[in-house]
Amino acid sequence: MDIFAKCVDFTDAKDLMATGLYPYFLPLTGNDGSTARYEDREIVMCGSNNYLGLTADPRVKNAAQEAIADLGTSNTGSRFLNGNLELHERLERSLADFYGREEALVFSTGYQANLGAVAGLAGRHDVVLLDKLVHASAIDAAMLSGARIKFFQHNDPEALDRRLAACPPDAGKLVVVDGVYSMEGDICALPLLRDVCRAHGARLVVDDAHALGVLGDGRGTAAHFGGEGADLVTVTFSKSLASIGGAVIGDSAVVQYLRHHARSLIFSASPSPSNAASALMALEILKSEPWRVRQALSNARYVRDALAARGVPVGSSDTPIVPVFTEGRTETFTLWRSLLDRGVYTNPIIPPAASYRLRTSFMATHTTEQLDFVIEAFLAEFANLPAAVS
Ligand SMILES: Cc1ncc(COP(=O)(O)O)c(C=O)c1O
Repeated sequence: MDIFAKCVDFTDAKDLMATGLYPYFLPLTGNDGSTARYEDREIVMCGSNNYLGLTADPRVKNAAQEAIADLGTSNTGSRFLNGNLELHERLERSLADFYGREEALVFSTGYQANLGAVAGLAGRHDVVLLDKLVHASAIDAAMLSGARIKFFQHNDPEALDRRLAACPPDAGKLVVVDGVYSMEGDICALPLLRDVCRAHGARLVVDDAHALGVLGDGRGTAAHFGGEGADLVTVTFSKSLASIGGAVIGDSAVVQYLRHHARSLIFSASPSPSNAASALMALEILKSEPWRVRQALSNARYVRDALAARGVPVGSSDTPIVPVFTEGRTETFTLWRSLLDRGVYTNPIIPPAASYRLRTSFMATHTTEQLDFVIEAFLAEFANLPAAVS
């Protein structure tokens, strides 16, 4: 059996390309945050995670450029050996301070932060319990850990309670949830989940990838609920922080342990100077300009309310993520293409990632004119759908 045979047989992408409806890997030639260039046209970007609109901020760009000038383009090694910068440690202190926790540990991506945290803590005698809709990186992390994996009903503390009750009493138990779910935009029931974990002696990890810069004046899920957070938080720099990288944030003992046990930290090169510097600058801007958080939320609300009022099936959660529900693969891809042709960039989602939808997201720097343009484009397309509501 040739292990490459499936590659030759894989024609789905090619078939879709032939119809002009292939929506992935679009090569952009420009991007200033709220607009991007594709095929020599300017389009309104509603498909990014640049919630605070900081990727094109001159202060963030200058910080990246200065870091390159001072420290070069790459650290060419892991933080464990030659690739640790004082800049990484400054970023760690700033993150820990922002979250009101003892320590943080910077990884090269959010994906690796989740791998490092979960696989660093859990092993084959433990159980990792995952919300059914948790991000793929947490699932991969649980598989890598070798622990027993159990899924529980999305955002359902009672379902978690039942799953935990069925765990062997002597097993270590790690529960992993997202703060904000990337496809729905809904928020995890942190206080209730934490109480359930406590009752069973389980530890809770919250992935704040879409909550940092979004919830609780930007301070994440714990701040949103006005108090105590999870046992451990993971974040990414690739969304609100306009860079690439990730971190785990929590108690010193746990962070120090992960510093010496997280294989995705130890065996991968550290964030480049420009990535670390841009994340640090974006974090400073987030701290000093909380209006950005409010503006991203109110821009999303503006679009959500306008579409819902005209009968377009949108999600109801109050975050910058606005899913627009569709029916079936052909409708999803056709709608995506038509919107792109009108100058609106969205993300088409099909199972198994989530049920059919266009995922849209809004940022602090979208103008009202851009938002109105997006609303008009959706209304025009939904008017064309056979099942459209008036
Ligand atoms: C919830 C969640 N966690 C983790 C990640 C991974 O982050 P990164 O892009 O930094 O690897 C993502 C990115 O899509 C995410 O949505």
